[in-house]
Amino acid sequence: MAKPAIYTTTPIYYVNDKPHIGHAYTSLAADVLARFKRLDGHEVFFLTGTDEHGQKVEKAAQDAGEDPQAFTDRVSQAFRDLTAVMGFSNDDFIRTTEPRHKAACVALWKVLAERGEIYLGDYEGWYAVRDEAFYGPDELTERDGVKYAPSGAPVEWVREPSYFFRLSKWLKVLLERYDLPEGHPDRIEILPESRRNEVRAFIQQGLKDFGEGSPKLDLSVSRTSFTWGVKVPGDEAHVMYVWLDALANYITAAGFPDTTAPRWRFWPADVQFVGKDIVRFHTIYWPAFLLAAGLPAPRRVFAHGWWTNEGQKISKSLGNVIDPVALVEEFGLDAVRYFLLREVPFGQDGDFSRKALVNRLNGELADALGNLANRVLSLIQRNCEGRLPSGDVDASDRQLLSPMGLILGSNSLTPSDPPHPLVGQLANLPARVAVELDAQQFHSALEVVFGLVRDANAYITQRAPWALKKTDPVRMAAVLRHLHTALRAYATVLQPFMPETMSALLDQLGVPTDARDFAALATPLADGTPLPPPAPLFRKIDLAAA
Ligand code: ME8
Ligand code: MG
Repeated sequence: MAKPAIYTTTPIYYVNDKPHIGHAYTSLAADVLARFKRLDGHEVFFLTGTDEHGQKVEKAAQDAGEDPQAFTDRVSQAFRDLTAVMGFSNDDFIRTTEPRHKAACVALWKVLAERGEIYLGDYEGWYAVRDEAFYGPDELTERDGVKYAPSGAPVEWVREPSYFFRLSKWLKVLLERYDLPEGHPDRIEILPESRRNEVRAFIQQGLKDFGEGSPKLDLSVSRTSFTWGVKVPGDEAHVMYVWLDALANYITAAGFPDTTAPRWRFWPADVQFVGKDIVRFHTIYWPAFLLAAGLPAPRRVFAHGWWTNEGQKISKSLGNVIDPVALVEEFGLDAVRYFLLREVPFGQDGDFSRKALVNRLNGELADALGNLANRVLSLIQRNCEGRLPSGDVDASDRQLLSPMGLILGSNSLTPSDPPHPLVGQLANLPARVAVELDAQQFHSALEVVFGLVRDANAYITQRAPWALKKTDPVRMAAVLRHLHTALRAYATVLQPFMPETMSALLDQLGVPTDARDFAALATPLADGTPLPPPAPLFRKIDLAAA
């Protein structure tokens, strides 16, 4: 039976400025999930792109003294270039200034209008251009005569004619959907749970303050005070609210309004990755727009935490923005990818530190994994004529490891004993990693694999195959073969995290390119397969010298 198709997304990033580490982080998470699901036999559609309309971008273009279209062309390209630098495997890159997207916005607006979900009124209230968001008076704080949103963005008083979306009608429905049981087709899952509670509390407070169905809970979805946006069909004095425009990107790319388009089969999205700053937009406005339009809502929104730089908030004014391109140049792509997902439990805030990155690169990648591979492959080159040795399990070798991977030394082995524990643990490795990735626990997935890498290091030290060449060459061959089999499995499941390095390792292990998915792990390589000469995978870095 074919496995279900998977649709995963990143936010589309504002083109007000060039990309930084935070943008790379969200897209990296989506990339790893997409790559993993492809290796597991799923058809995947992975979308990223840029958010190019609205006042914030219009202002950035003005500040740069450029025409908004030329400005967005230039900055959007920087985000597209980042996908190449970071090795992202996105299937599409959407820009909200593209004709396909404007057409989808107009179509969505018309459906909402026809269904009576949009009405004309007047908006009066606080607006933060930096967040492109409306705020209630209770949410604001005042300093030196300026009012600020909880995000720290200054707000201004806005009064203009505006179309409204009947958000008030959908809030109760949303609460019900968040709480549907696991596996229910209508469930809208918000992860981590702390975010779900936060969203629920926010809606409940609104319902309590204004009462269900109150127009005060409706959302202003058009503006007349500037023009850089998608024009409202039939009333061209208005442009659509940039968040209605932006959120619609996720269905534009799936073919909307053509729900017979081949890509429409991917909708609804399975996992939409966002940062915690934009959770409300994705878990309240977005599903409400969709339900109001009679379309299915996303299955899951995962809101990850916020990176700081050596303890400080990342901001342009502090001048401590981390440039992912420079990081990749300095430390190597896969070290950066590994660090970002290993260092911080996905969902929590994290602090970027060069020292922590170097420690992980040197200790876990270069020493634990890289050295292990290099030792095993060098021994095979030297002692087995560069050919994959036979893996016939000899009982004397087997007895040294328990199923937990610990060295025990039992004497009660018989020929019907289960396969060598080092190898025995590999059969379900993709499934164990999948459990973690299905919960977007990237750090735990890496822990699973690196726990096994530790076991394999204990095993090679214990067995000392380099000492067996003269005394017991058959056993030496078996030990090296077990380690080769283990390395192949580790490299296979690590490909989504470190595509370049693991591809190099699989080359060195002699694994053909068409035998690198999870299903292929069931078929061992033939004894005698020639292996190319090994080369180091990771370069250690001495921070003191850097
Ligand atoms: O909000 N740590 O775009 P944006 C972690 N256009 N992640 C970070 C981060 C940090 N310090 N800084 C940014 C927008 N991010 C809208 C989205 S979607 C329909 C429209 C990441 O350019 C994180 O994913 O401000 C955050 O949600 C996103 O960048 C915000 O990007
Ligand atoms: Mg932002």
